[in-house]
Amino acid sequence: MKRSIKRIKHAVRELVGYKRPIKAKSDPLPFKVLAAEGITGWFSRRECRRLYMTVAMSGGAILEIGHFLGRSTACICEAIRDTRRPRTFRSYDLGFRSAEEFKAYYDRLHKTDVDVPPQYQQIVFSKNTTTTEVATGNLRRLGLDSFVTLISGDAFELDRDTYDLIFCDATHEPHEIEANVPRLVAHSNPGCIWALHDMNQVNIERVLALANVEFCELTGSLGTFMYRG
Ligand SMILES: C[S@@+](CC[C@H](N)C(=O)[O-])C[C@H]1O[C@@H](n2cnc3c(N)ncnc32)[C@H](O)[C@@H]1O
Repeated sequence: MKRSIKRIKHAVRELVGYKRPIKAKSDPLPFKVLAAEGITGWFSRRECRRLYMTVAMSGGAILEIGHFLGRSTACICEAIRDTRRPRTFRSYDLGFRSAEEFKAYYDRLHKTDVDVPPQYQQIVFSKNTTTTEVATGNLRRLGLDSFVTLISGDAFELDRDTYDLIFCDATHEPHEIEANVPRLVAHSNPGCIWALHDMNQVNIERVLALANVEFCELTGSLGTFMYRG
């Protein structure tokens, strides 16, 4: 019985693209390069370094969709700091305050019963806070908070600007990709670089079918694309 429950849970997680958050120690890379690697999140150290370099090699305004506790956000902030080129950088995360709000949103999006990741319960909901408040504290501790404007809420509803680089962590599976890729297009300047997390062959093909983008490369599951306008 226990085994089959475990198997079902595993299958649901596979379906919705859920992965365990990564802690710095669990990654085989030999030493820590970025302070960001100390923040818990769903982003491997290799992906952290790839995102850092993507930001360092680009210019213009940056949008992040999905900061959670600030791990990917810190990578972007560190690149802005280290290249000494001030840039507009706005970062959003849905401001859920309870497991019910989380489930209402993701059950509808994925059209299935989605588990609430335990980290949300332990770090966010049980403390009656939001991911944005926790991320703000994490970035402040690392001296990175001045490089970003963190906003709690739906990026696609609140933001009216266009950008030169978008990091999006809301492209886990085809339903989410279909909902969000047209919204990414609406926020992109021609030549905008898209760094999309949770890419695999299926997801990359969905993105290519939905937008005029060139696929460039994949590090872990961080895919980079160029929007052709
Ligand atoms: C996998 S987590 C992000 C992990 C984070 N990037 C890290 O480095 O650990 C995905 C996040 O995207 C957020 N999200 C999904 N759709 C969003 C939207 N439309 N606007 C803002 N945030 C969104 C969710 O609230 C969730 O916290």
